[in-house]
Amino acid sequence: MTTSGTDAESRTVQVEMLGEKVGKLILHRPQALNALNSQLLEELSAELESLEGRAEREDLRVLIVTGSGEKAFVAGADIKEMRGLSPDQAEAMARRGQKIMGRLSELPIVVIAAVNGFALGGGCELALSCDFIIASERARFGLPEVSLGLIPGYGGTQRLSRSLGPHQARFLALSGEMFSASQMKEMGLVSEVVAPEDLEARSLHWAKVVASRGPGALRRVKQAVARGLDLSLAEGLECEAELFGQTFSTQDHQEGLAAFVEKRAPNFQGR
Ligand code: CAA
Repeated sequence: MTTSGTDAESRTVQVEMLGEKVGKLILHRPQALNALNSQLLEELSAELESLEGRAEREDLRVLIVTGSGEKAFVAGADIKEMRGLSPDQAEAMARRGQKIMGRLSELPIVVIAAVNGFALGGGCELALSCDFIIASERARFGLPEVSLGLIPGYGGTQRLSRSLGPHQARFLALSGEMFSASQMKEMGLVSEVVAPEDLEARSLHWAKVVASRGPGALRRVKQAVARGLDLSLAEGLECEAELFGQTFSTQDHQEGLAAFVEKRAPNFQGR
């Protein structure tokens, strides 16, 4: 299933189903290491809108995001397109990219980044906008913008410091260096590092684990974590208590508690 563009070959964002409830979104511009040019961003934005609709209809619960080809997840914003931009145009470009990354991070389904290769600049920022990251041993992460005389513009300075703390965020963004998947796991960004040939299977494994959980509960975990990042601990705990209370208005919580007592697997309906 693909919903963007007209011709399969020219589409830079492709979505397919990997069985029930799990989709895969592929960033496909292999000739430019899947760099984010305007066409790709436009198609990504349209695809995210369509995925929001699918999430509402409950036929999709988890999305795996990955790059096309063996070499790259996404090698950043398209450097060739950035040449000649005025300061105002560059600011508008950052705002547009940030909006798309925000839309990805706020999808009401769980999004797993399966990082297969270079995740640099805007590509690292795209991975940061996903709920968690599974990386191939071949993956390389970094914010190389300072080596181009720029700073990250698609949320890197903000999301990375929230994710890793300000010192590691500065370490990455000030050095502009690339780091391996295991270094990023040590820093706390990557959840699991796997052999390149196992990336798809392990990402699908985690997607299926997540897809078997209560869908309303998944949405509320995402909301609680996202909202809490902007709140004091006391306010965050308030938010958590409210969302915890909400789960008790669902049929799924009755099913989950009953299944435990009856020693069987729950059958969540998303209600
Ligand atoms: N934009 C546009 N084209 C890119 C690209 C990018 N970010 N990254 C790679 N490409 C293109 C190359 O130009 C090349 O195309 P041509 O053959 O037509 O010249 C093709 O992809 C293959 O790349 P390389 O030949 O460079 O491959 P390599 O194996 O020698 O190097 C690499 C791989 C180290 C990832 C190198 O391509 C590279 O350094 N890319 C740029 C990474 C980068 O700086 N990203 C940050 C961009 S700025 C940004 O993202 C700002 C933001 O936050 C919004």
